[in-house]
Formats: sequence, C-alpha cells, structure tokens
Amino acid sequence: MKLKTKDLLTLAELSPKEFEGLINQSIKLKKELKKGGNKPILKNKSLTMIFQKPSTRTRVSFEIGMYQLGGHAVNLSSNDMQLSRGESVEDTAKTLSKYTDCIMARVYEHDLLEKLSKHASVPVINGLSDTFHPCQILADFMTIKEKKKKLKGLKIAWIGDGNNVCNSMIYGAALSGMSMSIATPKGFEPDKEVVKDAKKSTIIELTTDPFTATKNADIVVTDTYSSIHNKDSKRIKKFLPKYQVNSKLMSSAKKNAIFMHCLPAKRNQEVTSQVIDGSQSVVWDEAENRLHSQKALLAALIRA
Ligand code: CP
Ligand code: NVA
Repeated sequence: MKLKTKDLLTLAELSPKEFEGLINQSIKLKKELKKGGNKPILKNKSLTMIFQKPSTRTRVSFEIGMYQLGGHAVNLSSNDMQLSRGESVEDTAKTLSKYTDCIMARVYEHDLLEKLSKHASVPVINGLSDTFHPCQILADFMTIKEKKKKLKGLKIAWIGDGNNVCNSMIYGAALSGMSMSIATPKGFEPDKEVVKDAKKSTIIELTTDPFTATKNADIVVTDTYSSIHNKDSKRIKKFLPKYQVNSKLMSSAKKNAIFMHCLPAKRNQEVTSQVIDGSQSVVWDEAENRLHSQKALLAALIRA
C-alpha cells in the first residue's frame, strides 16, 4: 500500500483509510511470518535509528522487522553522533539521506523530528517524542482489531497521565471512529490541540474520575506516571491511589474489556500485578505487534 505522507510523526498525517489499511497489512504480515517467513520486500533497503532516550521494544522490533523483510538497520545513540558535538539537525538529515532509505528517531523535543523531516529526503518515523508515540498506537489498534474483530464504535478508557501515548491514542481513536474517555488528575490532561482536533470526528471526554472513564469501556489503558522526560519524582504522588488500574476499576468496565499498557510498566503503581498478569491483559500481544505493525509502516513508506 502507498501512503500520501512522506513521514509519520504524529498519526495526523494519515487518512482513516490509510490507518485501516496499515492495520490490515500488519495482520497479514503477522500471518505470513507465522506461516514460514515474510517476502523480502525491503531487500537491500536500510533503516537508520537514532535514540536520544532508552528503548527495549522500539529498538529491537524495528531492527528485527527490517531483517525479516530482507533489509538492514543501523542503530545510533545520539551521544555517539556528531549531533552531540553541535552538528546541525539539518546537516545530519541531509547526510543520513545519502546512505539510508528511512530514518527512525526517538527524541525528547518533537520539534527535532519536524526538522529532520523537513531536511531529510527519505521518510522519517517518530519512534517516540515527548509529545507523541504513533508506532505504539499502530500496534495497539492492530491488537484491538485482533481481539475485538472491529474498531469502530468501541470505547477506550485512558487512566492516569495524559501523555505522549495518550495523545497518539486520541488520534488513533479519531481515525477509527472510537470514543475515548480520559481520566487524569487536574494538570495532567492530554494536549489541548490534539483533543480539539480529534473532537471534530469523535467523542473525547476529559474527566478526573476513573470510574466515569471505565463505564461501558471495551478497552482500559494506562501508562507510567513518569515518562522518560519527566524529571520530577514527586509527580507520582498526584496519581496514587486514585488512578491505579486495579481489579475494582477493571470490573467497572465491560465484562469482556481488555487491559492495555505500552510497557515498560511499574507494577503496583499505575497497574496492579493482578491486572497486568490477569486474563484481561493483552500487553504481550501489544509488544509483539510492534514488530508486525512497524513492518507494514516501513514497507508503506520506503516502497512508496
Ligand atoms: N513501548 C515502547 O516504546 O517501549 P520501549 O521504550 O522499550 O521502546
Ligand atoms: N510514556 C512513556 C512511554 C514509554 C514507551 C515515556 O514516554 O516514557
């Protein structure tokens, strides 16, 4: 499949059809892999990965994904690059575009990705910024489609911090006709512009009450209270105990609701061990699906 956009920085670049197409393609690639292997559709293609922040899933799933499609990935820690000695983002983008077919970057400031995208002639993928995590949402919505057989009409309850993953999930909900109820403490709401944008096409409710959010929810999601870029260790106190996903909160959602978390999780902070290790949890499928959904994305961007 082809995408209109050169880059994927937020998810707002995609049309609902393109979003659905990527999810369906991810499911196909997963089945193909399990039947014996993927076709080498990215033979001789390369991905350069830049990490300003730590990563387990993103790093490994992108690298192995490229390999499984016949391509190759190069991993760079931004500390090892001339970027750390003051080379401009513009010059870095232009140089890397001479070697590689795609750049994936995990950064602090989202602006850096926009600069990379402006100056790179090859596609740029956001592997997480302080504001968005679109690759996580491709994997999450693929997981929801596998478990619920549909997306449209479902309700997501987001509990805790209105962070980068939450912002991207709001775009995912808007693209697929799902509603979202977001329960955060005051001051921890998701990005105002993102909410305003998404409200044009779906229902996004903001509340401070977790039980309002989980009412009739098909999916209950949370994430760490303390993202990599949050340096204030005291912020955790603002969330506990009210915003913890525990059995009581889970049982206030629909009976067949699933529990999601992008990982890494802090057990017994944002979620109890009982819930994350329980029968409603699909967190390992989410982690696995990073591999399949990113392969669909890489193929769509690199072969476009
Ligand atoms: N969910 C996620 O992006 O995990 P990593 O930080 O391990 O890449
Ligand atoms: N919100 C988390 C997600 C980690 C994958 C963070 O930014 O650290």
